[in-house]
Amino acid sequence: VHVADLPTPALVLDADALAANLATMATACPGGRLRPHVKAHKCTALAAEQARYGHTTFTCATPREAAGLAAAGIGDDLLIANEVVDPARLRMLAEAAERVRVTIAVDSAETVAAAAAAGLRDVLVDVNVGLPRCGCAPDDAGRLADLARRAGLTVRGVMGYEGHLMGVVERVERSAALERSVGALVAAHAEVGGDIVSTGGTGTYDLHDDRVTEVQAGSYALMDTHYARLGLPFVQSLFVVGSVVSVSPQWAVADVGLKALGMDHGNPSIDGAAVRFCSDEHVTFTAHDGRPRPRVGDRVRVVPAHCDPTVAMHDQVWLLRDDEVLERWAIDLRGW
Ligand SMILES: Cc1ncc(COP(=O)(O)O)c(C=O)c1O
Repeated sequence: VHVADLPTPALVLDADALAANLATMATACPGGRLRPHVKAHKCTALAAEQARYGHTTFTCATPREAAGLAAAGIGDDLLIANEVVDPARLRMLAEAAERVRVTIAVDSAETVAAAAAAGLRDVLVDVNVGLPRCGCAPDDAGRLADLARRAGLTVRGVMGYEGHLMGVVERVERSAALERSVGALVAAHAEVGGDIVSTGGTGTYDLHDDRVTEVQAGSYALMDTHYARLGLPFVQSLFVVGSVVSVSPQWAVADVGLKALGMDHGNPSIDGAAVRFCSDEHVTFTAHDGRPRPRVGDRVRVVPAHCDPTVAMHDQVWLLRDDEVLERWAIDLRGW
């Protein structure tokens, strides 16, 4: 099968670019130094590739992701780096924990109680390191750890997520700002105890020192235009292939709209063209001067601005080498 035969919009993955990204990361963060975040790809086949590159611990955002990895027998230590209060989903995690070690983030007395009530055994105290999202105040982490231990839970350490720094384009600025986040996490760890200090993402994967025991990067495997600005050694492997469905003298239109793309980081890009805007089912673009004018029926490769929510809109991804389709991988960890 050739890429031209795929129904569009089609999520595709360049096999060689993916392999290069997995190899680059496995060299920088070998084995358990990386706890790959599966929320980026939501795909057991891709997680199995990451395991082939030596990573057997995984980060998940949703109970569904962890339960799906456990059912597929991928990984030996799964972290839900997120707060969960739904008893049914916590029970699903407790069932998964009969097959594989499952650890969940907690940042309140309520999430501690919910984890203990569901029969989960292992937690990390989630510490706010500057992103206005989940995580307890650093100076409250010790109290929560005590609470969790009194509830019979094993406290394996701490996690944070410096998401507010991932988009800082200049490496020196990113690195300088990181010191404050890491300082807060390490101070919390001193109060909490345990072996794990888990944090980081694609933008900070190589900026952490040994105070951090593992990095939670995910996007590095796929990449997007938002991360491309940082000049990281990862290449674009993920694209959405569209068909040109309409052409006018000033622009062309392909069938890759905002229902096929995560748009929170802005418009996607098309090589050799300026993207004007996306609507539900369409992307309108203009070829740069000197580039061939698109014709109806042509295929275009659209580069997402944000990989994670883009993948989550698709049922499958087609693995390609050049324009040949090698395999179809299900995006089987979608949902919650
Ligand atoms: C808790 C957590 N850890 C790590 C990451 C890192 O992901 P990425 O490598 O895509 O930056 C994220 C992304 O949002 C996250 O939410």
